Amino acid sequence: MCGIVAAIAEREVSRILLEGLKALEYRGYDSAGMAVIQGQAIDSLREVGKVQRLEQALEAHPLPGRLGIAHTRWATHGKPETRNAHPQASGHLMLVHNGVIENHQHWREHLLEQGYQFSSDTDTEVAAHLLHQRMASGDELLSAMQWLAGALEGAFALAAISTKEPEHIVACRKGAPLVIGVGIGEHFVASDPMALLPVTRQCIYLEEGDVADLQRESVSIYQQGQAVKRPVHRLDTESGRASKGAYRHWMLKEIHEQPAVLAECLEGRLDSQGRVLPLLAHDESAWLQSIENLHIVACGTSYHAALVARYWMEEWLQIPVHVEIASEYLYRRVVVPDKTAFLCISQSGETLDTLNALRKARKKAYQHYLGICNVARSTLVREVDHCLMTRAGPEIGVASTKAYTTQLTALALLMLAMGQARDENSENLQQAGKQLLRLPSDVEAVLAHADAIRQIAEALMQKTNVIFLGRGYQYPVAMEGALKLKEISYIHAEAYPAGELKHGPLALVNEELPVVAVAPNDRLLQKLQANMKEVQARGGQLYVFADEAVQPEGQLRGLVHLPLGGDWLSPVRASVALQLLAYDVAAMLGHDVDQPRNLAKSVTVE
Ligand code: F6R
Repeated sequence: MCGIVAAIAEREVSRILLEGLKALEYRGYDSAGMAVIQGQAIDSLREVGKVQRLEQALEAHPLPGRLGIAHTRWATHGKPETRNAHPQASGHLMLVHNGVIENHQHWREHLLEQGYQFSSDTDTEVAAHLLHQRMASGDELLSAMQWLAGALEGAFALAAISTKEPEHIVACRKGAPLVIGVGIGEHFVASDPMALLPVTRQCIYLEEGDVADLQRESVSIYQQGQAVKRPVHRLDTESGRASKGAYRHWMLKEIHEQPAVLAECLEGRLDSQGRVLPLLAHDESAWLQSIENLHIVACGTSYHAALVARYWMEEWLQIPVHVEIASEYLYRRVVVPDKTAFLCISQSGETLDTLNALRKARKKAYQHYLGICNVARSTLVREVDHCLMTRAGPEIGVASTKAYTTQLTALALLMLAMGQARDENSENLQQAGKQLLRLPSDVEAVLAHADAIRQIAEALMQKTNVIFLGRGYQYPVAMEGALKLKEISYIHAEAYPAGELKHGPLALVNEELPVVAVAPNDRLLQKLQANMKEVQARGGQLYVFADEAVQPEGQLRGLVHLPLGGDWLSPVRASVALQLLAYDVAAMLGHDVDQPRNLAKSVTVE
């Protein structure tokens, strides 16, 4: 999704801005641009496509100067075209923008009446012209930005520079993250701390509604016009981008990191007897015990993690668990029974739909507001009462892999903690805890079957449609497998609960259609076998990911035997196998696996 980088320094800033943009590439974007002030002049470059194209343009046309703003854009208003890329200009000033301005149409009409002309389709240009208009009527850049932050509706972050005031950058945060980097005699702004790592480890996280004024030697922050102080944090060096090493793609590296990050997620949270140690707070046992209902809200892959957790929690805790996609939860009447906790799950902690769902939930009478997240200083972490960190480390590949399996692990821990709060001495829960302790090595064992999985990928890469089937725990696994395949290979894939085939999708099955079934050795195996026969009887091409003890009957196009098991943690093992499948198909097709088309790592718009 869009990225902002800005810098004011003693030295030239274009290289700093470029390195910042490169650090944000993993978030997904479709165009990039930069503007730098030198003396009384402002100059800019904008390119559709990769940051590398901007870099080439800069070689041909350098932008000297010690004050500048830069941006990677992910199209929302207007196609990915140069005229829609940022920075957007209005006379003496230029502006970059993340997020969406909801009342842009209202202001566009107002500006047209005032004689302003538009050269882009963006809501960003509306903001640039408004800032310009405000300065034309006497405001300085800072007060114009303070006014603008109040006048615009939506969730956004802005940074602007003007040749009329070439000694500072002004930025504001309203619904989209923004962080200030503090250097020696230089300051930076970025939408993600990743972009600051090449230049500083000191940073200030802006709060909602903050407007910041950055000069070379100072930073001032205002909240509703009043100066405020915000603490300086030290960026964790762990959040730095490690190298891809020998791996061809970040996604492959992240798939193989899973045994290590799952171990990290469990570290210090389970004792050797499988008992959960305090996860969220020292007094958690009493209030975890009192939860009688759970509402879980998330998007995409995080939603799939929540669906798996529903099976776990209803089975082990026997409490009703309602799981919902955040953008749906947002726009319907939600009924909250007594003693219900709200849980939101987000890798980034910045997904706007999920944050808005949390804000809506905050107005309801939930008993607790909990989160599961991977980014320590994210908005979500700040807005929930208690957050369980997944400790997956930075995930660079847009398609979520290690973030997902650590979410599942965190949900498993939460389930055990809630169970333990209800029955401190439950033998079953302790056994489950011991199984969870073995998960990192179980996943290692699945990864050892990568070669066999690649053979199935070779067959699927020729296809245009794939159906994934699973039952019980494996239904959300099938959904996640289908999502992974479609997002990086662009092959159409759908998931069905296997028992649902005969209610419609069976009509699609013929000799051309590949059907991937996930078959652990669990109590639903017989039922699944019957569904697989329904596919075989129609000549469908059946590919099965089966536990080593399972011998599927009839004709198969492909079979991978894996240590899936049949226990409650089999969805984690099976998901890892399907991640490898999707990766292999996409890599063999030659796609940009880490930055699939049209997708962004962190979706900060509605
Ligand atoms: C898919 C994927 C997305 C995210 C979704 C939510 O591989 O990564 O579906 O899971 O955009 O993102 P977070 O978890 O950051 O809220």
